[in-house]
Amino acid sequence: MEVIYQIYPLSFLDTNGDGIGDINGVIKKLPYLKELGVSYIWLTPIFKSPMKDNGYDISDYYQINEMFGSKDDLINLINKAKKHNINIMLDLVLNHTSNKHVWFKEAIKNKNSKYHDYYVWSNKLPKIQSFFGGSAWEYVESLDKYYLHLFAKEQPDLNWHNSNVRQELYKMINYYINLGIKGFRLDVLDLVGKVVTDKGIDFHKHLDEYLLELYEECFKDKGILTVGEMNLPLEKAHQLSSDKILSMVFQFDHVALDEVKGKGKWELKELDLNDLTDTFEKVQLKYEDSGIPALFWSNHDQPRALGRYLNLEYRYYAQTMLQTLLYLQKGNVFIYQGEEFGMSGLGKVEIDKYKDIEAINYYNEAILTKDKDTVLRSLEVKARDHSRTPMQWDNSINAGFTKGKPWLMTNPNYTYVNASTDIKSENSIYMYLKKLLQIKKNNQTLIKGKYKRIELGPNIYSYERILDDKYLIICNFTDANININLPKGKIIISNYQHKTNKLRPYEALLMKRDD
Ligand code: GLC
Ligand code: CA
Repeated sequence: MEVIYQIYPLSFLDTNGDGIGDINGVIKKLPYLKELGVSYIWLTPIFKSPMKDNGYDISDYYQINEMFGSKDDLINLINKAKKHNINIMLDLVLNHTSNKHVWFKEAIKNKNSKYHDYYVWSNKLPKIQSFFGGSAWEYVESLDKYYLHLFAKEQPDLNWHNSNVRQELYKMINYYINLGIKGFRLDVLDLVGKVVTDKGIDFHKHLDEYLLELYEECFKDKGILTVGEMNLPLEKAHQLSSDKILSMVFQFDHVALDEVKGKGKWELKELDLNDLTDTFEKVQLKYEDSGIPALFWSNHDQPRALGRYLNLEYRYYAQTMLQTLLYLQKGNVFIYQGEEFGMSGLGKVEIDKYKDIEAINYYNEAILTKDKDTVLRSLEVKARDHSRTPMQWDNSINAGFTKGKPWLMTNPNYTYVNASTDIKSENSIYMYLKKLLQIKKNNQTLIKGKYKRIELGPNIYSYERILDDKYLIICNFTDANININLPKGKIIISNYQHKTNKLRPYEALLMKRDD
């Protein structure tokens, strides 16, 4: 079982006062991560980039972005992390580059350059929407042609059908493997096999073929942990993990349950616990005999679960309940920075506080047809900046993140929500999580056992894990008391002190069953 801690370097820890987190900041916190039980650190992109999409627009795959540090810093991190038995996982953006990448610069200069065909061009313009709003086609006057960008116009899509493109990328990946990198998170990997047709896009046409090649050229037999960010049917995602083409696949069904289906990410509805239970159950049953799920609540794109679904007044109980509910399922554990002490989103803030290109594009588009309150509410729940605010290390100025001016506003709740206060408190989320991870790591039933849904009543999420032993997990998903006759058994961990005949707000229990 792996514990993968996701770091958003921009917001983790700034060591030189420029208001931007850096690689040295990550090095400094290695003991803190080791103590928690982390085995991998996933760094979101640290490569050279104009930062139009916070590093997901790479202008040179071989250079480290100066704002984060140097290649020496990265090597230093790899070596120091190794001493703590922690591996480094990099984020690979293979679907697109920045428009400032030398390939793209050559591609638009000259139709006859070999780099021209590294990108996707058209004059027919089948209707394709960018994920960041508007058309996915951008006109280049000198060429009288359009290029495809499924994200921002500064992120032109690579043409994976050109084998030179694929070979260049494999070479780069192997360069980092030789440097000592032990894992990769693969950005929007489901998009690389797409074919543009007159009608639009056939997304998965060549996916299997390219993934197999990528695996054989880069990962096979090298002990590399991979996780593809992919919007795929469960069946397909499971097959990739089960065949070991990828170690894991991130799927997003469980974090889309507060969206109106088919209306995109901004149309909101209340999360229904039954939907959540069904969604997790499907995954757990699918992966019962092979493959391994990636267990996560939030990331740099997904606002933190806490304030999104639960009552913040019960921060400790709610956050530890979420961890118990998810992390005791079969799968590798992903922790997004700050979850280990209960960070939450910014709440409702004015549009000028947002920095993210996706949020700003959405606001400008939506405000034409919707009232401002509704638009700001969608942003409050779904905008990516809410999970990207600076780490709250302590209650000193800027939450101990920087001595300068932070690049993005710090959540004002840092005076009481911060790592240092949490670790010292009697009800520490960090300490609970640490213990929970230790329990899982040393328990084959919790690692491999079968998952069985158990019905104990409305608003309760409960399941068993069964191998030679039988464990029962019970979570109260509400901030109200629920009367219940607890089954017999020994409590292994719980976020409340004493067992009673009711479940208190967000109470969570792991029990070993006697029968
Ligand atoms: C992924 C990343 C996201 C980025 C997008 C385009 O979804 O997680 O942050 O904006 O890909 O690269
Ligand atoms: Ca810095």
